[in-house]
Amino acid sequence: MSISGRGSTPRPRCPSPQTVGPGLTGGKVGDVVAYAGNPMGSYAQEQILPASVAIPVPPSVDHKQAASVMLKGMTAHVLLRRVFKVESGHTILVHAAAGGVGSLLCQWANALGATVIGTVSNEEKAAQASQDGCHHVIIYTKEDVVARVKEITSGKGLNVVYDSVGKDTYKASIECLAPRGFLVSFGQSSGKPDPIPMSDLASKSLFLTRPSLMHYTATRDELLESAGEVFANIANGVLRVRVNHTYLLSEAARAPADLEGRKTSGSIVLIPDTDS
Ligand SMILES: NC(=O)c1ccc[n+]([C@@H]2O[C@H](COP(=O)([O-])OP(=O)(O)OC[C@H]3O[C@@H](n4cnc5c(N)ncnc54)[C@H](OP(=O)(O)O)[C@@H]3O)[C@@H](O)[C@H]2O)c1
Repeated sequence: MSISGRGSTPRPRCPSPQTVGPGLTGGKVGDVVAYAGNPMGSYAQEQILPASVAIPVPPSVDHKQAASVMLKGMTAHVLLRRVFKVESGHTILVHAAAGGVGSLLCQWANALGATVIGTVSNEEKAAQASQDGCHHVIIYTKEDVVARVKEITSGKGLNVVYDSVGKDTYKASIECLAPRGFLVSFGQSSGKPDPIPMSDLASKSLFLTRPSLMHYTATRDELLESAGEVFANIANGVLRVRVNHTYLLSEAARAPADLEGRKTSGSIVLIPDTDS
């Protein structure tokens, strides 16, 4: 079997596919499968996986796309369809809109009929976010996010903020919400947000959640539903997966360094050296 995981790519030509594990039904040697999350260890050419986490990849999905989209795509599905159900008429904010998850959130939310506002650090990322369906892009290094959101929403505020940045953004995220709005804090690229006093939520009857993909894909049915929605939206053109950066496995250390240095946009995929 070819396996993909967090940031790795399935190997199309497995040199020694021997066998699948005892008791496995519904799978055979040569099937292309992908996974996301646990067990860790996808910085590898080969991996042994429990069958319960292996997701069959349809032939319509390119291997690099599959490797890049599992974690991010299923996260986008869970955030937009289960944590908070985005619908036509909602106005939403996506921080890091040109990032891996951010890009998919913007495309998907646009297709759901929401008005999408994205924040990014520079012009180049702003152009990408616009292409990905952001109706309004805020370059936060030049513009005040709260003031721009007020202007865009005519003072009404937002139904939901998807915040993966954390420490640097959570206060503005709360300020931007409409009464009864949702703060979905799903990452902390800039560091852990400080504790939020209940009174900060009470002033607008806000909801705050800190979801993890793992808890929303805990059952096989949930996992296959999320993955199925992602694959379907790639096939129908709603999701364009941007694999903007590939690194050989032997130079894998450069990938997190570039991510930390804010040099990346879209997805990063590690390629086994044998495929280069
Ligand atoms: N909860 C879950 O289940 C779940 C699942 C998947 C991912 N995540 C989280 O979602 C977040 C996004 O993941 P991703 O893979 O899509 O990454 P990413 O968005 O491609 O990269 C992070 C982006 O965040 C922005 N950023 C703002 N402040 C930053 C800082 N101080 N340091 C680094 N980046 C900063 C940068 O965009 P700008 O230059 O435009 O500011 C950067 O490109 C991560 O925090 C990840 O852990 C959570």
